Amino acid sequence: MSAGIGDSSTPLDKRDERWQIRIRGINKTFGPQHVLRGIDLDIERGKTNIIIGGSGQGKSVFMKHLMGLLVPDSGQIYVDGQNIVGLSEVELGKLRRKFGMVFQYAALFDSMTVMENIAFPLLERYRLPTKAVEDRVWELLKRLSLEKVPGIAAKFPSELSGGQRKRVGLARALIDRPEILLYDEPTTGLDPIATKNVDDMIRQTADEYSVTSVVISHDMQSAFRIGDRVSMLYEGVMAVSGTPDEVRQSDHPVLREFLEMSGMGAKPGLQPVLQPVLQPVLDGAK
Ligand SMILES: Nc1ncnc2c1ncn2[C@@H]1O[C@H](COP(=O)(O)OP(=O)(O)OP(=O)(O)O)[C@@H](O)[C@H]1O
Ligand SMILES: [Mg+2]
Repeated sequence: MSAGIGDSSTPLDKRDERWQIRIRGINKTFGPQHVLRGIDLDIERGKTNIIIGGSGQGKSVFMKHLMGLLVPDSGQIYVDGQNIVGLSEVELGKLRRKFGMVFQYAALFDSMTVMENIAFPLLERYRLPTKAVEDRVWELLKRLSLEKVPGIAAKFPSELSGGQRKRVGLARALIDRPEILLYDEPTTGLDPIATKNVDDMIRQTADEYSVTSVVISHDMQSAFRIGDRVSMLYEGVMAVSGTPDEVRQSDHPVLREFLEMSGMGAKPGLQPVLQPVLQPVLDGAK
């Protein structure tokens, strides 16, 4: 299987219909620690692209590169054909308008209410009349099942549960209807129902607005449920990448371990009845 490089022949410095973000040879070190070691990956336009990988492998670091929040030591990141490595802060500011990001730890403004936090990107950019902004905030609160929390709009982040904070962060990323949405572990710490709601919302948002989504997830069930493409970051490179079906066929030992720990160990194609009998035989034959 390819290491995640798209098959389009469009030159990297031209807008490509299929691949919205094309990453080549990204290296990133922090002091002595070499976190990203030559990442190559293509992100498919309008699709849900999942990144999986163990804790500390560099998933959050990788994602921050996509909108220029971190700068690589070497390598290129093309967004719609523009290499964003080396852009000025002003140019990066323009680029970031294409993006919404849901940070791993919500990253809300502590001194602002829920309403102000969610509305922030709109007020900063357009200074829209308050009523229109408030309506849009309430629409999102409803979609995220937060509207029934008493007094939600006036609450401060410290008055919310972890899961509620997470959904407020999600609403803030969605409010300006970005072209590209980056989600860093949007469902970690949520109960199964809230997880399903957020998963559904990621898919609906992708489908309704043709948003390109990049989702870091350590929930394999959810990754394979909502992903159009799945890539695994391991030892600084994208060790496995492809459609969910392709990835489930991979023999990469770490990937197989992830799948097995999530109860998804069997390779697709075996009959459920035969699988308990055949799987140990197949595994033993490797
Ligand atoms: N700003 C930074 N300065 C120095 N080291 C950093 C910085 N950001 C991340 N690192 C290091 O880079 C490595 C990868 O971190 P990262 O947050 O990307 O992991 P992750 O794959 O997102 O893990 P998790 O699943 O636990 O969120 C870690 O060892 C971390 O200590
Ligand atoms: Mg992380």
